[in-house]
Amino acid sequence: MLVTNRDLLRAARRGKYAVGAFNINNMEFLQAITGAAEELSSPVIIAISEGAIKYAGFANVVGMVHLAAKERAAPISLHLDHGKDMETIAACIEGGFTSVMIDGSALPFEENVAVTKKVVEMAASKGVSVEGELGKLAGIEDNVSVAERDAALTDPAQAEEFVRRTGVDALAIAVGTSHGAYKFKGEPKLALDRIGDIAGRVPCLLVLHGASGVKRENVEIANRFGASIKGARGVPDDAIVEAIDRGIAKVNIDTDMRIAFTAYVRKALAEKPEEIDPRKILGPGRDAIREVVKEKIRLFRSEGKAK
Ligand code: G3H
Ligand code: 13P
Ligand code: ZN
Repeated sequence: MLVTNRDLLRAARRGKYAVGAFNINNMEFLQAITGAAEELSSPVIIAISEGAIKYAGFANVVGMVHLAAKERAAPISLHLDHGKDMETIAACIEGGFTSVMIDGSALPFEENVAVTKKVVEMAASKGVSVEGELGKLAGIEDNVSVAERDAALTDPAQAEEFVRRTGVDALAIAVGTSHGAYKFKGEPKLALDRIGDIAGRVPCLLVLHGASGVKRENVEIANRFGASIKGARGVPDDAIVEAIDRGIAKVNIDTDMRIAFTAYVRKALAEKPEEIDPRKILGPGRDAIREVVKEKIRLFRSEGKAK
């Protein structure tokens, strides 16, 4: 069943859980994620970046996800992640996505409001839901001043104005997380109290990007088989639980799946140097992604929430 983020996330807030948004670039990632969702009766959001569309092809992406939604006994949303190009956003709205993100976070506030409002207008007639972003996804460093730190984090009053003026369904906020495997130099520092402050002021659904945990186990397996992932650090599980308790409804995960896939593909290649069957090489990577997604579904408390 293909649904919108709006529907999934409203139900999540009512039920005090969050829905995972998992990035894909190919068939194996999609099968792993939707397989995990079906197994645990959980809704999931399939997130596609502009880079993923370029890599896999628009028609492949839309076709694969629509088919998965028809076959899997789980509610699935097809979401454009970090949309920046208006032509791509329009193609997604017209071409079968149920949700789009317009990421104007690098723009000055007024320009971010203007582009985001435009996307909300474009999406309205198709019933497609819209996520905007306010704030900078950057780690909180020790050596920056309070003023610099506050400039990166989402300001609650500004968030209120942004949501009122744009009419977005969902808002990605900056509370100290960042994309990728290297989120913190030392101990993780997050401004989770901001989530509650923002949730108290805006009527829309809140999104946490850069939420991968970067578990040591898969990093070690990848490194044992030839990777060089050093000093990687992610968001602790208890911070994710606290973020959901304070009002986050959508949690974005890409890096943890990438690390798991890399670890187990490398392992397969290293242990069977004679192997040339792609199914024997990519299969273990696919199984490892499925385990990651099951862990996340349990962490986000969305298990059993498929209706
Ligand atoms: O936040 C971005 C996602 O991890 C997707 O990354 O632009 O490399 O596809 P990408
Ligand atoms: P991670 O890099 O922490 O997995 O975050 C992914 C993300 O925010 C995609 O939009
Ligand atoms: Zn992101």
